[in-house]
Amino acid sequence: MTRVLVIEDDSLVSRTISTHLKKKGFELKLAETGVEGLKLYAEFQPDLTLLDVKLPDINGLEVLRQIKQTRKSAAVVVMTAFDDMKTTVEAIKAGAFEYLVKPLDYLELDLTIDKAFQLKALEEKVSYLIEEKQREYQIDNIIGRSPQMREVFKMIGSVANTRTNVLIQGESGTGKELVAKAIHYNSPFRDEPFIVINCSAISDTLLESELFGHVKGAFTDAVSETRGKFEIAGKGTLFLDEIGDISPNLQSKLLRVIETRDFMKVGGEKILKTEARIIAATNQNLKELVSQGKFREDLYYRLRVVEINLPPLRDRREDIPELVAYLLEKINRELKKNVRKVPHEVMEYLVNLPWKGNVRELENALTRAVILAKGDVILKEHLPFEPAVQAQDRFQMPRELVPMWEIEKRYIKYVLEATRGSKTRACQILEISRPTLDKKIKDYDLKVETSE
Ligand SMILES: Nc1ncnc2c1ncn2[C@@H]1O[C@H](COP(=O)(O)OP(=O)(O)OP(=O)(O)O)[C@@H](O)[C@H]1O
Ligand SMILES: [Mg+2]
Repeated sequence: MTRVLVIEDDSLVSRTISTHLKKKGFELKLAETGVEGLKLYAEFQPDLTLLDVKLPDINGLEVLRQIKQTRKSAAVVVMTAFDDMKTTVEAIKAGAFEYLVKPLDYLELDLTIDKAFQLKALEEKVSYLIEEKQREYQIDNIIGRSPQMREVFKMIGSVANTRTNVLIQGESGTGKELVAKAIHYNSPFRDEPFIVINCSAISDTLLESELFGHVKGAFTDAVSETRGKFEIAGKGTLFLDEIGDISPNLQSKLLRVIETRDFMKVGGEKILKTEARIIAATNQNLKELVSQGKFREDLYYRLRVVEINLPPLRDRREDIPELVAYLLEKINRELKKNVRKVPHEVMEYLVNLPWKGNVRELENALTRAVILAKGDVILKEHLPFEPAVQAQDRFQMPRELVPMWEIEKRYIKYVLEATRGSKTRACQILEISRPTLDKKIKDYDLKVETSE
């Protein structure tokens, strides 16, 4: 049953409220003083408190503050005399949900109570969503045990508790945004906003006003004043994606904010302060852009106080089986499907694909395979085609006439080089079994670096 606590020294008022609310099925407790109210609050843990601001012992506002201290989300409605606007304002500032003017209008009381419970339900939902987000970006959800990924985890751990700027570099789809969120959601500022801004998707002027906001009339379309992301981010994180694409003009403006922590809205004159942490990401080589004169060197050093480099998936193929299992779980959950079986040869195929689009491409390929699957098994025919292995140089036949085995020996070596040492791929191309290949490598004493 929903519990309501009424703290009110006028027993006539509290008894009428009580009769009214009991009829509606609420469980009621009444207190006549502030001290008694606080004690009952702790014991009874009400869902809603109706609080008179004029109590015989402690000031009602003080009672409100103490309740809010014990539970920040406590729903408290204050009851004030109609001419006491000052107290009303104070009460709202101290966190009261709503105020009711005495003598009470019961219709208004009912509406306020309804509103309070709706808000409470909404708050609970929001806090659940925040928790869910925080769970989603736990370090456990970044898959990888390869040495390169271990280094990444170490870096996330060491920067999460700081406010330093971080630069994340890596090819498209390697998990740059995922890592940025992991840093944010593992930091003491996890309840503050995480704001993403893609620097390459919009024009220079628009980007400037997105970042800093603009005042009314700053440009033709500026019909009203807006807040920029630097302001909205508060103490949270501003994730500047594709930072390599920003114009020289914005580069110098950004440098200024980072150095001084202050900025102005477009067209504005007031200096504003920002406390946001900046995490920048790029799939370009920023250092190279610096040496080509396309990116300011001073800005580069300011951004890369800490640098995290995400390896391409092809350089950490040992992580693929675990990633496949993890992504399949995620995809099945989202699509409400149950396609979890990956036959050995299909997994091997997955491990050896080039994955130019990295984890994102793997995720997309698996999503497609899950959708197309008839049973509960991932089939090779639903996965991307393996591009033909391109021979680097032409296979050279020996000038002199040689026995058959000499050609075979040279050709196997040639194929193994072309597949960069992948025996699996070599077997597929040569159409021989793995033991046969192994035997031939041994017999011919082939000195090739194999990756498996
Ligand atoms: N190590 C990982 N473990 C689990 N999922 C990952 C991992 N890396 C990336 N992903 C997933 O792959 C997808 C792409 O990751 P993300 O968007 O972070 O990449 P990105 O580097 O920002 O790519 P782009 O440059 O294309 O924007 C996301 O769905 C992300 O959850
Ligand atoms: Mg991204």
